[in-house]
Amino acid sequence: MSLIDELAQLEGEARALIEGADTADKIEAARVALLGRKGSLTNAMRMMGKISPEERPAVGKRANELRRMIETMLEQSASSVRAQAMESLMATEAVDVTLPGVRPALGHQHLISAIIEEMEDVFCGMGYTVEPGRQVETTYYNFTALNAPEDHPSRSARDTFYVVDNAAGTAEHAEKHARGESDILLRTQTSGQQVHALERGELPIYMISPGTVYRPDTPDACHLPQFNQVEGLVVDEGITFGDLKGTLDTFIRAMFGQDRKTRYRPHFFPFTEPSCEVDVSCNVCHGEGCSFCKHTGWIEILGCGMVDPNVLEMSGVDSERYTGFAFGIGVERVAALRYDLPDLRALMTGDMRFLAQF
Ligand code: DAH
Repeated sequence: MSLIDELAQLEGEARALIEGADTADKIEAARVALLGRKGSLTNAMRMMGKISPEERPAVGKRANELRRMIETMLEQSASSVRAQAMESLMATEAVDVTLPGVRPALGHQHLISAIIEEMEDVFCGMGYTVEPGRQVETTYYNFTALNAPEDHPSRSARDTFYVVDNAAGTAEHAEKHARGESDILLRTQTSGQQVHALERGELPIYMISPGTVYRPDTPDACHLPQFNQVEGLVVDEGITFGDLKGTLDTFIRAMFGQDRKTRYRPHFFPFTEPSCEVDVSCNVCHGEGCSFCKHTGWIEILGCGMVDPNVLEMSGVDSERYTGFAFGIGVERVAALRYDLPDLRALMTGDMRFLAQF
C-alpha cells in the first residue's frame, strides 16, 4: 500500500477512534495511539524517509493535514466531554440558593446572671465596687474569721461540702482548729469575701461580691445544693445602722418597686451584731396576708447586720476607728419573688422552654 493510501486509511481509523472516545481517559488513550511516540501517525511519518523526493511534498502535506485534523478532533471531543461532566455535576449537586437557610438557635443570658447584673447596677449606682470571689475556701475564711465558734453546727460535714478532710465536726477536727489549722471546703456563703476585702486593709470599703455557694441540701422546690448570693460590705468611719437601713431600703425598692415596705427583724449571725433578717411586703396581697406570704404579709429577702468588732480586729482593722455593715442576698430567692417561680430546680435544668421566658 502506498503511504498516501495508508494515510487515507489512518484518517478513517482516527475518526472512528476519536468518535468512540466518550471519556477523558479514552480521549487520552486515542491521542497516545495516534500521535504518541509509537502512535500510528508517528509511525507513518517515519516512513517519509523511504519515499521518493518527488512524492515527499504531497505526502508531507497530507500527513500534516491529518495531524491537524486529529488534534482538532481530540480537542473538540475533550471539550464536549468536559461540558457533559459539568452538566451532570450541576444536575446532581445543584444547590438551590433561593431556599431559606436554617437559623441557628441562639441562647441568651441566664435569669440568675441577669438578676446579678441588675443588683450590680443598683449598687454601682451607689458607688460600690464589684469583687470576684473564690468558690473553694478554707475553714478560716468561711467560718473562723467570721467569728463562727468551733462548735457552730454549720461547720459540720452534714452542712458543708469538705474537699479535704472529712473529719469535720469530730473531736480530732476541733483539735486541729484549736491549733489554727484550716480545712478546704466549697464555700457555704459568700461572707468569706468580707474577710478577703478587710485583709487588704484598703479603707474605706464599699463592695459587693456575687457568686455561687454550696450546701449539702437535697434539692426541692425551695432549696438547691448550689445557689448564688450577693455579699455586701461597707466599712468606713462613722457608719451606723441608719446607713444600713437606708442602703438596703434603696436596693429593695430599686429591685422590687418603689411602693414596697421593708421590715427589719432581729436575728443572729456570728459575724454581725446586731443582726437582722429583712422582709419585703408581699406583692400579691400588699401586706393583707395570702398563701404566697404564708399569711404574714411579708417575704424574707436577706440577712444583714453591723459588722462585729471581732471580725474587724481579726483581719487587722481598727474597730475603734471604723464601723461597718454587711448583708447577704439570696439571688434565687430574688428571682423566685420577681417571677413567682414555683420550683427553683427549673433554674438548674437548662431547659430552654423554661429559661427562654426571661
Ligand atoms: N451569710 C449568710 C447566710 O448565708 C447571709 C448573711 C447574713 C450575710 C448577714 C451577711 C450578713 O453579710 O450580714 O445565711
